[in-house]
Amino acid sequence: MSDAARPLLSVNNIEVIYDHVILVLKGVSLQVPEGGIVALLGANGAGKSTTLKAISGLLRTERGEVTKGSIELLGAPIHRGGPAEVVRHGIVQVMEGRHVFEHLTVEENLLTGAYTQRNGRSLKRDLDLVYGYFPRLAERRSSQAGYISGGEQQMVAIGRALMARPKLMLLDEPSMGLAPMLVAEIYEIVARLNRDHKVAVLLAEQNATMALRAAQYAYVMENGRRRQALQAPQAVAVVISKEGAEGLCAGRRAKAWALRAPASPAQPDGGRFGRGAGPPSEVS
Ligand SMILES: Nc1ncnc2c1ncn2[C@@H]1O[C@H](COP(=O)(O)OP(=O)(O)OP(=O)(O)O)[C@@H](O)[C@H]1O
Ligand SMILES: [Mg+2]
Repeated sequence: MSDAARPLLSVNNIEVIYDHVILVLKGVSLQVPEGGIVALLGANGAGKSTTLKAISGLLRTERGEVTKGSIELLGAPIHRGGPAEVVRHGIVQVMEGRHVFEHLTVEENLLTGAYTQRNGRSLKRDLDLVYGYFPRLAERRSSQAGYISGGEQQMVAIGRALMARPKLMLLDEPSMGLAPMLVAEIYEIVARLNRDHKVAVLLAEQNATMALRAAQYAYVMENGRRRQALQAPQAVAVVISKEGAEGLCAGRRAKAWALRAPASPAQPDGGRFGRGAGPPSEVS
């Protein structure tokens, strides 16, 4: 395959098992192009976080394992290395739930993200870059991270990932629990990072509206057994999913489709999968 055609990240038919017995993903495949933003959508328990952790290597910390398939960065396999090695390859995960070191200051939290760098001058430059994107963090740089707001903690988590100068950022539900204004602000920053610094993003979300606005395309992970989601207000996803349908992923008989971002403005409530949408519908 030529370099031009080769994706930055390629997840090929992976199977993930927790605790040696719990099969959670089976035959999951996806691709992220260089400098692209790709969304991974799905209801609770569909396997979004597991997919991201398989890529970042963090699965191992939860007794999970990629037992089949491969994960490649620019064609080179990365799924046998640990999380530190994956970070050195330029892939950083921002975990679900805005993990910060609560007893450290905002700036100390950011600096923990730069452990792969030793050069003081570039550290200063990277801190300035993060503060440029998140001016609120500059104002709060000496505050203890446990006492800043949830939105600011999400900014710290993204800023800390940026300090590692990633090629690819894995963002796990950045909108979770945040007010709509803050969600919009965070998405705007992600889009700028992508545009200005060519950071590719794989974005796991239940908030389909925001994710589809930002992403070039999306994969929908659906837990085959429950077959929920994909009905109003998720109509955006349904309609586009039927176009160009591609059997891309099968986790516990799950399915995924490649989607295009919607042409029409999507629902202001976030179009969440599996929440507030009435009873699950059967999709065959
Ligand atoms: N450490 C673990 N050990 C065993 N099973 C797990 C573990 N983590 C997740 N699972 C199971 O794997 C399945 C997929 O979970 P995962 O967290 O990947 O879903 P998700 O799509 O991220 O869901 P959510 O939207 O709720 O974050 C679920 O059935 C879950 O119970
Ligand atoms: Mg999750």
